[in-house]
Amino acid sequence: MTATLLTGIAELVTNQPGLGDQSPLGLLSDAAVVVQDGRVAWVGPRTAEPDCDDRRDLGGRAVVPGFVDSHSHLVFAGDRSAEFAARMAGKAYDGGGISTTVRATRAAGDGELRRLLAIRIAELRAQGTTTVEVKSGYGLTVEHEARCLRLAREFTDETTFLGAHVLPADFARRREEYVELVAGPMLAACAPYARWVDVFCEPHSDHAFRADEARVVLEAGRASGLGLRVHGNQLGPGPGVQLAVELGAASVDHCTYLSEQDVDALSAARDTTVATLLPGVEFSTRSPYPDGRALLDAGVLVALATDCNPGTSYSTSMPFVLALAVREMHLTPAEVLWAATGGGATALRSNDIGHLGVGAQADLTVLDAPSYLHLAYRPGVPIARALDL
Ligand code: NIG
Ligand code: FE
Repeated sequence: MTATLLTGIAELVTNQPGLGDQSPLGLLSDAAVVVQDGRVAWVGPRTAEPDCDDRRDLGGRAVVPGFVDSHSHLVFAGDRSAEFAARMAGKAYDGGGISTTVRATRAAGDGELRRLLAIRIAELRAQGTTTVEVKSGYGLTVEHEARCLRLAREFTDETTFLGAHVLPADFARRREEYVELVAGPMLAACAPYARWVDVFCEPHSDHAFRADEARVVLEAGRASGLGLRVHGNQLGPGPGVQLAVELGAASVDHCTYLSEQDVDALSAARDTTVATLLPGVEFSTRSPYPDGRALLDAGVLVALATDCNPGTSYSTSMPFVLALAVREMHLTPAEVLWAATGGGATALRSNDIGHLGVGAQADLTVLDAPSYLHLAYRPGVPIARALDL
């Protein structure tokens, strides 16, 4: 395959300190990149660019690693805009609306779910995301969870089994039985289509799972060869973070209500467990934002993701998430960009995405702007898009 030289890059974010400047973003101005066979083959200053037959001038734009959206729930049908409106009028979120989406998702045919997935993935790519993790969790039967994951697998390798999203209505007084179903036959049917297992560990919601229940599902998932992820500490203080750290989960997501001990545990586990913040959720549920500043200052490894789902955060936009994190969680534009790229890649335990070093996947996002600073500086303006090579 021919090599393509990308030139006219006013500012390149490599996330490789030393390849550019010494900062975590590894910034290089007036840069060029060579892409070959879907990988980054060369990176350097324009003045040293190698000869290539195929050249593309990016016209003085900034280029950043494609966003890694490490938390989404894209397989769903139906509409919950009325629930959003009710929340904006003062109603609290408790996870109860998930059953509405479960009904609509079960009723939708494969073709319809595939069509919706394709639209959502095109939408996020058009806003600069090049890797997306997709969870099940709106099927909640053996057949429907496996179907949702099979469909998600058509679009991404980063698929997550979330049979323990909420307790379905028909198991309301049979919690133990549902946990056994999830950790047994449902997991067995889903594992072939999943890389990860996740649980909504939230004692503050009657619909979600306690720590002992979450542990059963996570341990069974691990025994089936899946990596671990946890929804934790979303609606109030709880055991999610400690459980995730104890079990060596790749990520614990939300982290909205943390104790000092939780922050210490995450800081000590920074080489294993990422804290993934999802500020679109706080926006959309009108909740207090997690203290992202305190987490970074304590040395926690932080990622940012959309959590795109019909209940708590119906946005596919990583730039929106970055702008919220800067404004509402007191992170710098550089910190949020790293969290949305290198942080997301770490949360997915992937070495060849989230940066633009030689050998990385050629996942480049182009900005209609001279610097990455514009991502948060121009909120709501569609300046970012994944580069089609
Ligand atoms: O990550 N908290 C649990 N699950 C989703 C919301 C799902 C829904 O409300 O449909 C979340 O916020
Ligand atoms: Fe989620």
